[in-house]
Amino acid sequence: MKIITTVKELKEYVKNIDKSIGFVPTMGALHQGHTKLIKQAREENEIVVVSIFLNPTQFLKGEDLDKYPKKDEADKKICQLSGVDVMFFPSVDEIYTDDEVSILAPCVRGFVLEGFSRPGHFNGVLTVVMKLLNIVNPTRAYFGKKDAQQLYLIKLMARQFFMSVQIVAVDTQRESDGLALSSRNVYLSKEERQEALKIPQSLHLCAKLVSKNIRDRDEIVQKMKEILNPLELSYVEILNRNFEVIKEVELGNSVVLVEAKVGSTRLLDNIWL
Ligand code: PAJ
Repeated sequence: MKIITTVKELKEYVKNIDKSIGFVPTMGALHQGHTKLIKQAREENEIVVVSIFLNPTQFLKGEDLDKYPKKDEADKKICQLSGVDVMFFPSVDEIYTDDEVSILAPCVRGFVLEGFSRPGHFNGVLTVVMKLLNIVNPTRAYFGKKDAQQLYLIKLMARQFFMSVQIVAVDTQRESDGLALSSRNVYLSKEERQEALKIPQSLHLCAKLVSKNIRDRDEIVQKMKEILNPLELSYVEILNRNFEVIKEVELGNSVVLVEAKVGSTRLLDNIWL
């Protein structure tokens, strides 16, 4: 496995290969959610590139950038064992200068839900993803459905900027008890870890209600909130796959999203119906 730290070297590397490239952008502290993306990229492409870049522009002032888990050595091992060809490990100065052009998330769908809790967050995500895609120039880029709004906005950007990369959506990897894997789970105490299970349980209830032909958004959200009580909720919402609020669940075209605070940790999860 090659470890590359400069944009120049990576651009040189990809220029000289005439093979399909699967790209998995990450912020490190890799877990089995990330390795699921890498595995799929490995199956579908000749070359796999993984980036580890803790992107400062997607963290708002006062957010957890400084305490975000860093596991560089473990990440290298995981990438090596997962059959990654190139690990891209740039410094902040390699990616950003002090006066930058940036991508702005769309005014509506970039500023609702997580974009409402974290205004400007998706500007940073889209800007760094655009930069990384331009450096790696992959055939396919892999993103988790766990971050449904991020995935939606990246797909929208690729479409609206007429980019040729194929954005591939990968299912959420969960612990055996249902908790979605996240780099932030390490912040949870034992008790909080138990409380956090209310999130997948609420989504499970939602799927059950829908299977019993209950489709009314308000009724479903109300019942989910009963399970989620007393967690501090940022949102429980049902949208169509175009990220518009709907009154009735449409099977095959709905996503149910929850963001809740457990202790001081914000956790996201969702289910695609
Ligand atoms: P990060 O949180 O490291 O996640 C990297 C990728 O892994 C994202 O596409 C995310 O959706 C996916 N992922 C995380 N947990 C997952 C799980 N349990 N199952 C499946 N996929 C999962 O998301 C980011 O980094 C950044 O915003 C990034 C896109 C790299 C831009 O900086």
